Amino acid sequence: MVDALRRALPETGRTEPLVRRSDRADYQANGALPLAKQHGRNPRELGEVVAAAIDAPDLIAAAEVSGPGFINIDLTSEAIWRQVAARLDVDRLGIGLPLAGKRIIVDYSGPNVAKEMHVGHLRTTIIGDALARLAEALGATVIRQNHLGDWGTQFGMLIQYLNEHPEAEWHHADDADPTANVAALDRLYREARTVFDSDPDFKDRARARVVALQSGDEDTRKVWRDLVEVSAEAFDAIYERLGVSLTAADLAGESTYNHLLDDVVAELVDAGIAVESEGALCVFFDDITGPDDNPVPLLLRKADGGYGYAATDLAAIRYRIRDLKADQILYVVDARQALHFKQVFATARRAGWLTDEVEAVHVPFGTVLGPDGKPFKTRSGGTVRLMSLLDEAIAKASDVIAKKNADADPDDLAALAAATGIGAVKYADLSNNRIKDYAFDTDRMVSLTGDTGVYLQYAHTRLSSILRKAGAMTASVDPTAPMSKEERALALHLDAYSATLTEAVGEREPHRLCGYLYALARTFTSFYEANPVLKAQTDQARENRLCLVRLAKDTLAHGLGLLGIASPGSM
Ligand code: ARG
Repeated sequence: MVDALRRALPETGRTEPLVRRSDRADYQANGALPLAKQHGRNPRELGEVVAAAIDAPDLIAAAEVSGPGFINIDLTSEAIWRQVAARLDVDRLGIGLPLAGKRIIVDYSGPNVAKEMHVGHLRTTIIGDALARLAEALGATVIRQNHLGDWGTQFGMLIQYLNEHPEAEWHHADDADPTANVAALDRLYREARTVFDSDPDFKDRARARVVALQSGDEDTRKVWRDLVEVSAEAFDAIYERLGVSLTAADLAGESTYNHLLDDVVAELVDAGIAVESEGALCVFFDDITGPDDNPVPLLLRKADGGYGYAATDLAAIRYRIRDLKADQILYVVDARQALHFKQVFATARRAGWLTDEVEAVHVPFGTVLGPDGKPFKTRSGGTVRLMSLLDEAIAKASDVIAKKNADADPDDLAALAAATGIGAVKYADLSNNRIKDYAFDTDRMVSLTGDTGVYLQYAHTRLSSILRKAGAMTASVDPTAPMSKEERALALHLDAYSATLTEAVGEREPHRLCGYLYALARTFTSFYEANPVLKAQTDQARENRLCLVRLAKDTLAHGLGLLGIASPGSM
């Protein structure tokens, strides 16, 4: 197509033919329209000239101009069959490595020590993990960073409270469920806050404890380390349950940057970027305003000398660019922190750390709502624990599967329920447009029909079952075979996989991959309804269809894998 365009209209230079899939033909090229505008010519005429210049009889069966100058293109069946064979033949389904050589940091999850992971941490964890896997699959070196909230004056308060209440049970309260320890801490934290707000003497003692923590007092540090460790164990339990690829090696909590804060802030002061204001140290911006249009400064150091969240993120971005040599940094964080990241990036740019060669991107997402579409709260109005939500999804998935397999082995059923329940949660999250809020409805997400993870996993088991039944039957593609409408649709859809991945990574939108996989499952269903595979009328048709089934299964499993979703062979 590009060749034809260059040959027919050499004056068009580097214009793209804009070829897309179409319902009118296999593909449609829409390049003639913008081109005609540019050169002041008739688009239909331009289309005719380009269509006439197409000369690839092995590949293109027909190229016809339609409408105002679209070129409808049909490929030869042979070319499509050859492409199926080629994809089956190469490693990794022929996915390219457009991100090879790039170092991409993905900052995600980032829960807070001594607080339970709640439903708000679900999206960053799931979306961040999918983006990390996707970038890796396209060849990037991905560095995962779990920016744990493990530092701040609140820990002085909590440690003081724990010291004064030795009877408080939190430390390994329940070894079977590591999240129970953090649940206990979360409660104690709220108790401490209440006392802090009402008892001035405790407030003073808590402040003294903050100083002790910051100056490295050994007893205080010991309790702090314990808090971090117990919390990290609980987070790990959730990551494991979720099948998220974060490990201890990816932990880089706020405290990691403590030793850099003085230097980072000094650099900003020397450059005249950070200035004193009412005793505090701030960065001011001309063009960044808050919700009420007033300029909002970024607070680096409070009047009492304490550094905050922003100073830490500045130290982190400098470190990530300078030491980790990032080409790209993705911050997968709640949309409500948009202003914070805008300010951090602007400051880093002014400081010269963030240059045009590096891309720092806030990847925001919407809120998880309750099943009724209202803010997600427990019946008593508390925040919903993430672990109990996951348990609920798994239990619901278990019911759905048990209904289908009355005599399944209980162990198999439990494993399958975990795979489908978690897959359902992840798919429900990822398949929504990232920036939109969505309702967390476990009944809907474990449904076997509709746009759900379970439906896709089920499609995968159907594909697997056909291949199992084919047994040792060897199949190879015969490119000279005729091709049905449904075979053609499935083959062309499969061929778009690699481009879909590139698009999903480029836009940081995993829902594009979800949409692709859902369409794949449906295209396969239409194919299968009209084209018997094992009972095909000729050997040639059976072999070609088996090849399509194999490619569909491999593609579906690969895509689900990039979303962090398991593809069981049967269910
Ligand atoms: N701990 C933060 C929170 O719970 C998220 C951290 C996001 N990452 C960052 N570099 N600021 O809101």
